Amino acid sequence: MSKHSSHTVSIDLAERSYDIRIGSGLLREDGLFDGLPRATSVLIVSNVTVAPLYAATLQSALEKKYSRVFTLALPDGEAHKNWQTLNLIFDTLLEQGCDRKTLLVALGGGVVGDMTGYAAASFMRGVPFVQVPTTLLSQVDSSVGGKTGINHPRGKNMIGAFYQPLRVVCDLDTLMTLPDRELSAGLAEVIKYGPIADLQFMDWLEQNMDRLLARDVDAVAHAVRRSCEIKAWVVAQDEREGGLRAILNFGHTFGHAIEAGMGYGAWLHGEAVGCGMVMAAHLSRRLGLVDANFVARLQALIVRAGLPVVGPELDAKDNAGRYLELMRLDKKSDAGEIKFVLIDGPSKAVVQAAPDALVREVIDACCRPA
Ligand code: NAD
Ligand code: GLY
Repeated sequence: MSKHSSHTVSIDLAERSYDIRIGSGLLREDGLFDGLPRATSVLIVSNVTVAPLYAATLQSALEKKYSRVFTLALPDGEAHKNWQTLNLIFDTLLEQGCDRKTLLVALGGGVVGDMTGYAAASFMRGVPFVQVPTTLLSQVDSSVGGKTGINHPRGKNMIGAFYQPLRVVCDLDTLMTLPDRELSAGLAEVIKYGPIADLQFMDWLEQNMDRLLARDVDAVAHAVRRSCEIKAWVVAQDEREGGLRAILNFGHTFGHAIEAGMGYGAWLHGEAVGCGMVMAAHLSRRLGLVDANFVARLQALIVRAGLPVVGPELDAKDNAGRYLELMRLDKKSDAGEIKFVLIDGPSKAVVQAAPDALVREVIDACCRPA
């Protein structure tokens, strides 16, 4: 990726406000960590795939400011986003004699970022942390906004905390080593911002999808920047998801059921969200909220991003029943009633319940046997 001038998106959360820096070559830039607090030690938390690629560069950058910096490489994958792996972070922090002035730095995708954030929220009741996201998905979504946590075998992201980082550093160069399938998964979370908040951005994505798939630096920079701006705008209004923030979960209610139902890691998070957006769009249409043309347009964009749009069969006997059972565990559910993020006309989202019979029809229409 060639050099691209960097941008900063700020997220306004009073005393928890911070900057999201976006650009190529950031990890090699002087002064990257200026302004962060002094720390007795720094633990970079990464995984066995990302650490060999970027940990040494990040460690050198941090050593310009901090005297004691070390790296932990966790096992890779969504299947490891659990208590056992989280405990490896605590084990290392304690073995290394870390204290309340230790800084945690997450280097990796959303799995590493969510786990490191949760470790930072709970180690010694809270230590500072920085996000250095290295997947498209984590640069446009998971590193921003302070949702941290781990999965439970019964449900996705069931255990966690809201805990904001001090800074987010999105070095676009890291996306050059991302496998194509992961790039597509990240595009799902980019696409979601169009139907829920910004129709012009959806138009832009339709015009520039080929450039994004080719990793054109200007196109990727624009997609990351606009996604972060929209996410920052939403989170600044509703940090702890009392209402508005739920719209960021468009496609996630169906998507989380796919991830949990298939076994974590079988479908990538972004793939499940892409397919889940198609299902949520069809449900919106059946409820009379949006017309068939818009659903077809969204589905076509998701297909162009290289994402699946046909849901997997989770149960041979009662597939829709299994989806419903898993979706009732969703954090938005209220007394067992599932709340869906639906599109209420282009670029507007609502959160509401839907009759089970209608949801069953959508699942039947959108799924096929494995
Ligand atoms: P991931 O963290 O599993 O990363 C995907 C894969 O890419 C992994 O194998 C990883 O090792 C590899 N990888 C990462 N960076 C790389 C690079 N630069 N080059 C080569 N390989 C690289 O998955 P993800 O899609 O980044 O994140 C998904 C997770 O994020 C899910 O657990 C999801 O629940 C979570 N999430 C959280 C939020 C939030 O607000 N906290 C939002 C969306 C998603
Ligand atoms: N990814 C959804 C949220 O941050 O709220």
